[in-house]
Amino acid sequence: MIQTIATTPFDDQKPGTSGLRKKVRVFQQPHYAENFIQSVFDSLDGYAGQTLVIGGDGRYLNREVIQIALRMAAANGFGRVLVGQGGILSTPAASHLIRSSGAFGGLVLSASHNPGGPDEDFGIKYNVSNGGPAPEKVTDAIHARSLTIDQYRILDAADVDIDTLGTSQLGAMAVEVVDPVAGYAALMESLFDFPAIKAMIAGGFTLAFDSMSAVTGPYATEIFERRLGAPAGTVMNGTPLPDFGHHHPDPNLVHAKALYDRMMAADAPDFGAASDGDGDRNLIIGRHCYVTPSDSLAVLAANAHLAPGYAAGLKGIARSMPTSGAADRVAQKLGIPLYETPTGWKFFGNLLDAGMATICGEESAGTGSDHVREKDGIWAVLLWFNILAARQQSVADIMADHWATYGRNYYARHDYEAIAKDKADALMAALRDTLASLPGTGNSGGTVKAADDFAYTDPTDQSMSKNQGVRILFEDGSRVVFRLSGTGTEGATLRVYIERYVEPDGDLALATGDALAPLVAAAQELADITGYTGMDQPSVIT
Ligand code: G6P
Ligand code: ZN
Repeated sequence: MIQTIATTPFDDQKPGTSGLRKKVRVFQQPHYAENFIQSVFDSLDGYAGQTLVIGGDGRYLNREVIQIALRMAAANGFGRVLVGQGGILSTPAASHLIRSSGAFGGLVLSASHNPGGPDEDFGIKYNVSNGGPAPEKVTDAIHARSLTIDQYRILDAADVDIDTLGTSQLGAMAVEVVDPVAGYAALMESLFDFPAIKAMIAGGFTLAFDSMSAVTGPYATEIFERRLGAPAGTVMNGTPLPDFGHHHPDPNLVHAKALYDRMMAADAPDFGAASDGDGDRNLIIGRHCYVTPSDSLAVLAANAHLAPGYAAGLKGIARSMPTSGAADRVAQKLGIPLYETPTGWKFFGNLLDAGMATICGEESAGTGSDHVREKDGIWAVLLWFNILAARQQSVADIMADHWATYGRNYYARHDYEAIAKDKADALMAALRDTLASLPGTGNSGGTVKAADDFAYTDPTDQSMSKNQGVRILFEDGSRVVFRLSGTGTEGATLRVYIERYVEPDGDLALATGDALAPLVAAAQELADITGYTGMDQPSVIT
């Protein structure tokens, strides 16, 4: 029943920041998904008879690719596949399932926060046995293999029923359809003080959670409504849809505007949150109080010991380079190390595995800990709940208290989307050319202290990653960072990250736009953004 199918390589299967992401139409080309999956298997060693986890965020093409992956896993000699019922597994739940089942690895089918549907995006990411995204040496091997592949193996068999819990046989391989929520919910219950959170909700604490018609619906409904007693309807858009109801499942101030408006209204609930397509990102908004992802990381790190799972304290904190330095001040106060990594969750895996860091976070709305090897949207919300229940304060009070203790890192990210790739590359190249001459010069942002292209040496295995973003650091501690997105599927997106630090005794109550205006002007002067892109405004500000 095993077929060997002849194929020719595609030259565009290089995994990006987070796996291979392409338009659905690209994945629908004959052999396209098969080539990539076989390239993954060909890059691995020793999986015969082992377990593979497969699941996705329910987007368009999820079920079709799961059936292909199942038949290919069987033909390539895996012993068992665990697949989420209905093909559903949030990214953090997939990570947990890989870890808890002792799997060899997993295929996570998602394009994260990108839209879904026949004209939108799909993605395949391979995660290794620690539950985290494959490190660069593995993704490089997958890419190299994809350029020479000439055949793939697939079983000639009917579709597997992935909607009914239980085990069936596919050739010599067992397929186990598992409840996607139960194991994950139990993990959350082991980390957080559910009785205290339940009591807070019963005592009148109100919340709203927007699942954005994406994967977190079943998880949020089970955990927030069933286990913690929030009223039915707390979870909005709670059914995963293949096209996410035509919404863009990115929990930022543009795409989750309805939630933002509700949180700013006179009758706003105490707490609002949202997650993205595959459930690893989070947006946190207190009543009349938006919390930036960078600040959220800092507050969670400073207060994590209030949750049972972190009562012993943190071993270290890790953040991506473009994420603000707010967490650095917390690490300093706690007397624990702070690691600054390139963008991409995969860089945290080694630090977590080595026990060097406990909590990690990124400006791109990702926060997580050593409980899994992915960022985790629902986890972040639950840690906030646990802190609110322990401190009996509002989100706004906690933020004010945090800034009064550590100072405030005013922060924003300006995105220039859908730029021609050559224009974006030219902008970055020109900027890189100026770096050596910038220190000591002045512009609207102040005097430049240092300028470089961020490079990282992983402290656990000494692997080097270069060209990870241009940093312009000013004398007063302010910073402007430029990098091109690694997750887009069309053209290029320029991200400009702008940060200004104000001491605890400084002005902590400025509007972010006002606080950052001189640095925004400096970014224009330094990179001639309008000249290269033709845009005089960013398309998204978060
Ligand atoms: C994904 C990764 C994150 C990363 C983000 C950056 O969400 O999982 O770890 O921070 O992409 O995306 P970008 O588009 O800036 O490369
Ligand atoms: Zn995501």
